[in-house]
Amino acid sequence: MFDLNGKVALVTGAGQGVGAGIASVLAAQGAAVAVNDLDRDRAASTVDAIVAAGGAAVAVPFDVTDYTAVVDGVAAARAALGPVDIMVPNAGIPAAGMPQVAFVDSNPELWHRFIDLNLYGVLHCAHATLPAMCERGWGRVVVISSEAGRLGLDIKVALYGAGKAGAVGLLRHVAMEVAPLGVTMNALSLGLMNNVSGDWAEAIARTVPRRRLGSPTDVGAAVAFLASDAADWITAQVLPVNGGSHT
Ligand SMILES: NC(=O)c1ccc[n+]([C@@H]2O[C@H](COP(=O)([O-])OP(=O)(O)OC[C@H]3O[C@@H](n4cnc5c(N)ncnc54)[C@H](O)[C@@H]3O)[C@@H](O)[C@H]2O)c1
Repeated sequence: MFDLNGKVALVTGAGQGVGAGIASVLAAQGAAVAVNDLDRDRAASTVDAIVAAGGAAVAVPFDVTDYTAVVDGVAAARAALGPVDIMVPNAGIPAAGMPQVAFVDSNPELWHRFIDLNLYGVLHCAHATLPAMCERGWGRVVVISSEAGRLGLDIKVALYGAGKAGAVGLLRHVAMEVAPLGVTMNALSLGLMNNVSGDWAEAIARTVPRRRLGSPTDVGAAVAFLASDAADWITAQVLPVNGGSHT
């Protein structure tokens, strides 16, 4: 697909779902992968799967909402595998799940839960890895965003959407600062993935032009492209990965 041999990637929230798929695809392209998750057992299981498939990976469990923990985790990844070349802030669904609450019924605890994870989580990971990328003259940041950050949706996820949109706003500006130094920053705006189940998910799948929900491998392939040398002239962009919905 795309040659990532010799590169080190760090994927957050990669203990399951989309992040685990991204980590596996990057490892299959030759990257050594630091697998982050809040849940250390989940991170370890993704590492085991990558190593069993012949790839290189280590677990770096930490909470992306805690800047000090992120800095320490990036240092641990560097000590185990080398400096991080490819940063994939993917963690975005709170560990407690995805409550769908009307904005007027929400409260400060909920505001912080979504903004801390989806805006500060990305900010922390970018801030902890960009200086070394700029110093080495090569780097990639690929943020995993959502159509909820690009579109108004009537599904009671305003705070989640605000966090996602905030991270994209941040990356567009920071991308301008780091582009001359060989570092690109892009985001993927995901439609509904196949790790969400239920009648409503099946109903949505029927409305997707491609007639299916997305898979972690679909997302991994797009990350591998944006992380590769082939995507060197693409920066500060948001690529919808959504089966053709919302053109
Ligand atoms: N699933 C979808 O339909 C969908 C749609 C659009 C966008 N996305 C985005 O894709 C990304 C992955 O979603 P998913 O469905 O795979 O989620 P998931 O809930 O299946 O997995 C998320 C992982 O992140 C970890 N995590 C949670 N909080 C963390 C923290 N503070 N620090 C580190 N790790 C943490 C969890 O332990 C979990 O293993 C998210 O950014 C999400 O917003 C998902």
